[in-house]
Amino acid sequence: MKYLFAVWLLCIASLAQAADVANGQRLYGVHCIGCHGATGEGVMPNAPKFNRGDGLMRADTDLLQQIKTGRGAMPAYFGILRDAEIFDLIAYLRTLPR
Ligand code: HEC
Repeated sequence: MKYLFAVWLLCIASLAQAADVANGQRLYGVHCIGCHGATGEGVMPNAPKFNRGDGLMRADTDLLQQIKTGRGAMPAYFGILRDAEIFDLIAYLRTLPR
């Protein structure tokens, strides 16, 4: 029981950690760059232009849901990326130069 509590505490602690932009950038290069482009300019028809703030004017938790579910040509990342990784990605998207 004590052990379970420690595990639970660890999980909560890792959720509370600040998003890691560098990790987000790395993941972006692996999973997103092909459609969203190196500068977030969007290289696929319909892809939002992150470097103009398209699609980003909403809460992180909203974006998390959207990225997990996918939309149109955008694949769903549920089961591929962990929530913490998606939060890292979102933090990176918010740093793209406008
Ligand atoms: C196969 C191409 C493709 C890949 C890979 C891809 N996206 Fe997308 N993404 C799209 C397209 C197309 C849209 C626009 C969908 C629409 O509105 O129909 C989109 C939309 C979005 C949006 C805006 C959603 C909204 O509701 O406005 C976000 C945020 C996003 N993508 C993030 C990501 C992230 C983060 C990754 C990598 C983990 C990623 N995308 C990978 C094609 C892709």
